[in-house]
Amino acid sequence: MESPQIINQVLQSSRVRQLVRAMTRAFNWKNTPLVGLVSYLRWAIPIAVSFVGIAYILFEQIVLQNHALDELSVIRSVLVIGLAGPALVWLTLTWAARAAVAEADAQKQLALRNQEARRRAVHLQTASLIGQRMSALLDLNSLLTEIVRLIRAKFGYYHAHLFLVDDETQEIALTEASGAQADAIKARGLRLKIGAEGITGSVAHTGRTLLCNDVSQEPRYHSAELLPEAKSELAVPLRVGKRIVGVLDVQSDRLNGFDNEDVIVLEILGNQIGIAIENARLFQETKRRYEAMVALHETSLDMIAQLDMDAVLQALMRRGTQLVGAQGGTIYLNDSEPGIIRNIANFNTSRDWRGITMRHGEGVAGRVVATGEPLIVNDYDHWAGKSDAFVGDPQSRVIGAPIKWRDQTIGVLLILNDQTMRAFDHADLWLLRQFADLASIAIENAKLHTQVKNFSQELERNVAERTRELSDAKEEIAIKAAQLRSLLSKTIKIQEEERARIAREMHDGVVQLITAARYELRAARVVGGATISRAAHEKLDAAREVLEETEREIRHAIYDLHSPLLDAIGLVPALEKYASRYQELAGIACVITVAGAPCRLPDVLELAVFRMVEEALQNVASHARAHNTAVALNFESAQLEIIAQDDGCGFDFRQWMNSRNGNHLGLIGMQERVASLGGTMQVWSEPGQGTRVHFYLPITREMG
Ligand SMILES: Nc1ncnc2c1ncn2[C@@H]1O[C@H](COP(=O)(O)OP(=O)(O)O)[C@@H](O)[C@H]1O
Ligand SMILES: [Mg+2]
Repeated sequence: MESPQIINQVLQSSRVRQLVRAMTRAFNWKNTPLVGLVSYLRWAIPIAVSFVGIAYILFEQIVLQNHALDELSVIRSVLVIGLAGPALVWLTLTWAARAAVAEADAQKQLALRNQEARRRAVHLQTASLIGQRMSALLDLNSLLTEIVRLIRAKFGYYHAHLFLVDDETQEIALTEASGAQADAIKARGLRLKIGAEGITGSVAHTGRTLLCNDVSQEPRYHSAELLPEAKSELAVPLRVGKRIVGVLDVQSDRLNGFDNEDVIVLEILGNQIGIAIENARLFQETKRRYEAMVALHETSLDMIAQLDMDAVLQALMRRGTQLVGAQGGTIYLNDSEPGIIRNIANFNTSRDWRGITMRHGEGVAGRVVATGEPLIVNDYDHWAGKSDAFVGDPQSRVIGAPIKWRDQTIGVLLILNDQTMRAFDHADLWLLRQFADLASIAIENAKLHTQVKNFSQELERNVAERTRELSDAKEEIAIKAAQLRSLLSKTIKIQEEERARIAREMHDGVVQLITAARYELRAARVVGGATISRAAHEKLDAAREVLEETEREIRHAIYDLHSPLLDAIGLVPALEKYASRYQELAGIACVITVAGAPCRLPDVLELAVFRMVEEALQNVASHARAHNTAVALNFESAQLEIIAQDDGCGFDFRQWMNSRNGNHLGLIGMQERVASLGGTMQVWSEPGQGTRVHFYLPITREMG
């Protein structure tokens, strides 16, 4: 084996290497094989030299100079060299001992550093784990709970707290805690003025990490009696870019409980947490808005479906409360008295407030209606504008939104929570505002519906009343008409009887007298014989002629008054007879035509037909200036049809009907007569076009 190999082997053996390393450390040399070798030679050479020297002295003194071993020079030389060797060895051992101590120190340092490295690895692993957990959690509350729990558990801190910044009040509020006293601390709640109170308040203000390894020396330390063990505290800001959204605060029950390592890891975590909080908030906000929109949509559908005012108000209360996840709600609307609002509906309120009135400006409702702006009051009893009526009510968290219709505030919607429930925020306000706009539409709809309903009910009532009145009137008219008709037919009957009676009396009285007078004249002529002068004869003849003429006239009058032919020979022959006489007297051609088989009809009917035809032909003679007239009777169907027409001047029948006066009763009489017999009459006439009068009469045929 060559010597460098042996040296290498020696050097590689662990003990030697340790020793070499220790030596080099002791001499503050670098730990390289070459340097090791050099250091090895540094202590090996003196020992070797000491042995070589002794050997040389012994060799020279004893072999070359023949000195005895006990000679002083030999002894001295051996002593010198022999002492020098052990001295060197002692020195070497001392160095070696020092080197061993140094090695032990180095080992300890190494162990420490290893431990440190392990801790850092655990910290970083923990930080990464927390980061992962955070990115998976989108619900803010569970996110915060998980963050403080993990940080405290994984890093082994005494307590961990998380504060969130409340921009509105410029405070930080303890939101989550982990540690032995966490529940008690959370229950007690803690709010610190940013920049003015506590270590965390200061961190929220400066945005810089604050490490306090002995809280008893820190004037800003906010001592908490629930955490008596706290000795040191580390607070890091939670950031989103430059904005501080909160503070992560950890406490240790040891002095100098935190080192640089904690600071670095928690700062990294602080940034991650800040972003995670922002993400969760954004997610929640988006989710909330989405849910709000869905809820608003559903609400609008629900409310549009309701038209009855009470149902609308109940739906409004229920939906509004659900929308912001609150306990209850109430609605005030403007009263008929100006400047006053009145409670009209409640949902899950501590009392039924219906009927209670408030002045504009009084309480939350009054304030909202007066300003037209929404309002949040999270602690009513300590609110400057409180109204005595509601002080002490458990539901002391109030959010109010104006219900507006065409820029007019018509009422207020209040949503309520008690102190155990969450406080209202601006997101609720926004939502409620949108909701109140919908509410106003629903309320106006319901109002309109009520109005329309009332109006239509009124209308229905009026129509029913009028209909009743009308039907009463109709009945009355019908009764009157029936009475009139019967009166008319009675009148006609009496008239006809009277005419017959007069005709009879004229015939039996006057005509008999004339006949008697004619007999007397004849007798006078016989008695006078030849003695009667010619002149007297002429006078007698003249008297006879006057009598005959008188009798003719009277007979005509009797005929006009009552046609005995009608009774004797029936309707058609009587009409034919009348027509021929009419033709003679009026000078107008008159033709009677008959369709179907004529039969005898009841006297009243025959007389009526005769009189109507008579009246129609009289009118032709009086008004038509006609040349021809025709009367057609049709017995073919169930009702008797009679048409009397002429080729005269005609007239405007409709106009005549509208402007008729009481002096012309012919046509009206005909109409009434037909109606009394259950028939109808139609007149067709145009100026220059002649006139046609049409009658239809129901008939009951008689054998004849
Ligand atoms: N056939 C007819 N031709 C032309 N005008 C007629 C005829 N019948 C009736 N009239 C018009 O109708 C009016 C009403 O007739 P009527 O009631 O019988 O009353 P009067 O005969 O007493 O005038 C007549 O005044 C006349 O102007
Ligand atoms: Mg007439």
